[in-house]
Amino acid sequence: MGLMFLCYLDDLSDREARGFDPWQEGRDSVFVVRKGDSVYGYFDSCPHLEGMPLPWRKDAYLDAAGQEIVCAAHGARFNIVSGACFIGPCKGQSLTPVPLTFSEDGRILARLEELTITPGRAD
Ligand code: FES
Repeated sequence: MGLMFLCYLDDLSDREARGFDPWQEGRDSVFVVRKGDSVYGYFDSCPHLEGMPLPWRKDAYLDAAGQEIVCAAHGARFNIVSGACFIGPCKGQSLTPVPLTFSEDGRILARLEELTITPGRAD
């Protein structure tokens, strides 16, 4: 598995996040957040409790103002750009980034071949 199409940049509004299930596990294991014209990708796994998904419902990765990534379990907050936790039980730790590529026609692609971990998978 090399590049995985996630969605188009135009599918996301500014400060919108969306989860994806590239390994078809029945739950979203990666998510992307748009901030301006930039998009950031992370695994949907909280560094406080490895494997714990962040949102309380599908795609609810951000706070109400769309300023920060939030884990619903215990309220950890993360910087959208760096993935670093700055408030909460995992303060000082970071979300694991998912490397992204953008095609000229506006597709957002995950560079899955570069990943060394695949949360939720046995192999
Ligand atoms: S599992 Fe995310 S803050 Fe505790």
